[in-house]
Amino acid sequence: MADRARIAVIGAGLMGHGIAQVFALAGHDVTITDSFPANLDTVKARISANLADLEDDADAVNRVTPNADLATTVRNADFVVEAVLEDLALKQKLFAEIEQHARPDAILASNTSVIPITRIMEGLRHRERALGTHWWNPPYLVPLVEVIGTQWTAPAVIETTMALHKAIGKTPVYVKKDVAGFVGNRLQHALWREAVALVEHGICDAETVDTVIKAAFGRRLAVLGPLENADLVGTDLTLAIHKTVLPEIDSRPAASPYLEKLVTEGKLGFKSGEGFRTWTPEQQKDLRTKVTQHLKAARTQDR
Ligand SMILES: NC(=O)c1ccc[n+]([C@@H]2O[C@H](COP(=O)([O-])OP(=O)(O)OC[C@H]3O[C@@H](n4cnc5c(N)ncnc54)[C@H](O)[C@@H]3O)[C@@H](O)[C@H]2O)c1
Repeated sequence: MADRARIAVIGAGLMGHGIAQVFALAGHDVTITDSFPANLDTVKARISANLADLEDDADAVNRVTPNADLATTVRNADFVVEAVLEDLALKQKLFAEIEQHARPDAILASNTSVIPITRIMEGLRHRERALGTHWWNPPYLVPLVEVIGTQWTAPAVIETTMALHKAIGKTPVYVKKDVAGFVGNRLQHALWREAVALVEHGICDAETVDTVIKAAFGRRLAVLGPLENADLVGTDLTLAIHKTVLPEIDSRPAASPYLEKLVTEGKLGFKSGEGFRTWTPEQQKDLRTKVTQHLKAARTQDR
């Protein structure tokens, strides 16, 4: 793909505006669309605010062009990335429309969090140029992009997509099989399942779960993955631990009834002020600030 490629982003929400920002900062021309006019009207201001906060090149925003029309947005694009709501029917409908207007050689990608790409792209006429690119929030601070092919995706499309994301400074990884949740969200939610179960079964409270992770293995996770860790301590020790612990931890193939009850009771977390714990507006603000500062420091360290 050219050093100055044409990128189309569909959806100017939390993820879409950040993805547009990263491509523009890397020198690509980005067209972005959204069906909700207010999100399109504010997209350049949101990108400018992020660029200023990160002390990145403010001129990058000039390479971003909002456009209310989907057909025009994708018409000349080399690479189209969709970041609308996590709704399979909506994504299928959108890609059918994108395919009608995009160039036949344009690569079509979905930023779905967990939906198999096969389900999203199965109705397309040219499925060989479709794949998943799963970014993490916020796109301009978290390096990973999971690149997910389907049984139909051409190897050259995977290669081009991997190279494109590497060139813009991301850390792309190739996911060999198109499974729900890909790699990152499967790992993340395996941990969350046990976190919920520990509270549900009265083993400890929610704050303790989070403290245990943050003050123990969470400290190492950014530099020591679990399989590196298993090799470091020895696979024999890991096996012994698994034989004792795995039969005891939660393995229900369904969401926890405890979590279901929270949602039924309207305890939706920050949104309602209470979830696993209670949250004042100040506590919410402090936690968000802490996460952003941590991610910014990590980005500085990476450079
Ligand atoms: N939020 C996250 O942490 C995160 C992380 C990785 C992936 N994702 C995935 O990225 C996608 C977007 O998530 P988000 O958090 O940015 O959501 P969001 O609600 O912030 O943004 C979605 C945007 O899509 C727009 N939209 C809806 N229908 C549209 C249509 N037909 N045409 C054009 N625009 C349309 C909405 O107006 C909105 O601006 C989802 O699939 C989500 O699962 C989210």
